[in-house]
Amino acid sequence: MSRITITAALPYTNGPIHIGHLAGVYVPADIYARFLRLQGHDVAFICGSDEHGVPITIKAKKEGVSPQDIVDKYHAIIEKSFVDFGISFDNYSRTSAPIHHKTAADFFKTLYDKGEFIEEVTEQLYDAEANQFLADRFIIGTCPKCGYEESYGDQCENCGTSHNATDLINPKSAITGATPSLKETRHWFLPLDKHEAFLREWILEGHKKDWKPNVYGQVKSWIDDGLRPRAVTRDLDWGIKVPVEGAEGKVLYVWFDAPIGYISSTKEWAEREGIDWEPYWKDKDTKLYHFIGKDNIVFHCIIFPAMLKAEGSYILPENVPANEFLNLEGNKLSTSRNWAVWLHEYLNEFPQKQDVLRYVLTANAPETKDNDFTWKDFQARNNNELVAIFGNFINRVVVLTHKYFDGRVPKPQDLLNVDKETLENVKHYPKIISKSIERFRFREASQELMNLARLGNKYLADEEPWKVIKEDESRVQTIMYIALQIAAALAILSEPFLPFTSNKLKSILGESKLDSDWSWQGITEGRELLSVGHVIEKGELLFSKIENAEVDQQLAKLEASKKANEAANSKVDPQKEEISWNDFSKLDIRVGTILDAKKIPKTKKLLALKVDTGIDVRTIVSGIAESFSADEVVGKKVTVLVNLAPRELRGIESQGMILMAEDEAGKLVFVNPDEHSKLVNGLPIS
Ligand code: MF3
Ligand code: ZN
Repeated sequence: MSRITITAALPYTNGPIHIGHLAGVYVPADIYARFLRLQGHDVAFICGSDEHGVPITIKAKKEGVSPQDIVDKYHAIIEKSFVDFGISFDNYSRTSAPIHHKTAADFFKTLYDKGEFIEEVTEQLYDAEANQFLADRFIIGTCPKCGYEESYGDQCENCGTSHNATDLINPKSAITGATPSLKETRHWFLPLDKHEAFLREWILEGHKKDWKPNVYGQVKSWIDDGLRPRAVTRDLDWGIKVPVEGAEGKVLYVWFDAPIGYISSTKEWAEREGIDWEPYWKDKDTKLYHFIGKDNIVFHCIIFPAMLKAEGSYILPENVPANEFLNLEGNKLSTSRNWAVWLHEYLNEFPQKQDVLRYVLTANAPETKDNDFTWKDFQARNNNELVAIFGNFINRVVVLTHKYFDGRVPKPQDLLNVDKETLENVKHYPKIISKSIERFRFREASQELMNLARLGNKYLADEEPWKVIKEDESRVQTIMYIALQIAAALAILSEPFLPFTSNKLKSILGESKLDSDWSWQGITEGRELLSVGHVIEKGELLFSKIENAEVDQQLAKLEASKKANEAANSKVDPQKEEISWNDFSKLDIRVGTILDAKKIPKTKKLLALKVDTGIDVRTIVSGIAESFSADEVVGKKVTVLVNLAPRELRGIESQGMILMAEDEAGKLVFVNPDEHSKLVNGLPIS
């Protein structure tokens, strides 16, 4: 038995959590924690909300509330989602908790006193109007690489390059719109370069074989690029105050305080349990695992270990099984674009189907590459695997046991070869599944679990108890006895993956009334799980079919969110100043027909049109040449403002104006009755 500390990335509380979070971090971490507990290990499974950082302050500003309001709101939603999906944290804390503020501040102070930081005065962008230094996300300007005008200080969302805020062309403060100036400020840096040799040896030499290639590769390229000092403090008022003199207005960088949240959450848990927290973080025999998404690799494999090493009394992670990303219907999941399946919404729409989502996300987990979640796949996995294989097998076992033996486990008779082989096969599953889980191959593990259900299903289909019952009841006793043992093995082995189903199945099989050994080891040793004469319950169906209409509804929801985004992204000019009826009635707008069109040489946009307005035929110069060729517009009906004062353009007198609109893509379109309409030239429009 070992002591094992498992951490799952602390989610940011600037929004609820979605399937990407569940698939990448929390479901695999939960499978791992549940599995290890079942093997009798002493597990601390730790998480909490990450409540600091600039995005939270931005969100608060946008909504006109305090950052504390934002984190309170999302902390509650996120915590509930974890409970609802059976994520079995031993403790779920939050970084605004006093115990965390103290733990993180003390940690900083220890490194500070040991001389592990370097202090440096640098120039940072400052907003004199708001009287504050600007965090990267509070600076907006033109990307030096692609020219996108709304790039953030640290990264351009258009082309993805990361840069320094001082590289932006035309930087503006996102708070006041003022042009920021450079001002000196003092900060503390963790000299990662100083820890490079150690990191190289510990990871690049020590963990070449056992760390996932995606994780190892990223770490290697960081180290090979050369590590530099990283600032661990910020000029900001939301966060943990820097606990040293002369640091007014400064807080710990969120990525310095958040991972310490694992430690404070462990302390909070240990205090509640009345045990000592320290062995979980400091005993050399404890194994520490960080479950994270790939965007967190550098923080968990380089920066946090360097912090722990510099402190000196902590253990380092044994492994950091980071996952790649999950996409949704072919597009990147996005909180801001509402391209997501939100966990709290999912449960409203698919009540009681937590395990279905857990299963689909595991079977299709982004373990080695980015993967796509589609509603069709969700439906197929539910209907073809959970319902048709797992659920069908259990249902047959339960129904037939009641039908033939009043729910009593029958006494087996002579075992045939097929029976012996089947029992022998079942014995291997705990090992097979364990091996996959121990190597962080949760997809593979979930498929092996399904294979055990397949084995049960096939056994019944081959032995056909429903036919044999007519001539040989004693043979059916044996068949059902074996099928029942397989059902029990499924109840035991499914627990890490499908905890709700496992519980239901255990209660159907009447596990609490038994004193047999329902352990993974028990299955391996071929012990009897359900004894002869034991009575099982009737029970409910474990899974139910998902219909096309349910899936179509989800797709329609995504489609709606795509539309809403497009609408939000197309910029709408603000309304102009109000005009009187009298002003409006001065406009004389009529229907006309374009009789002729010529491009005006040496211009990009201008066409000279001859328009029959019904009153006369006149020349109008129109700036539509980028959207239409001259040939295209001849014959079109158009709306014309006919009493606009004439104006000379490129030596041609323009006697009116054609009214146009823009489509979604910014292309001009005619505001017109189409050319087939019966409207008569010269008819006023009112
Ligand atoms: N909040 C971060 C994210 O969602 C993860 C923080 S993990 C921790 O990407 F180690 F810092 F806690
Ligand atoms: Zn760019």
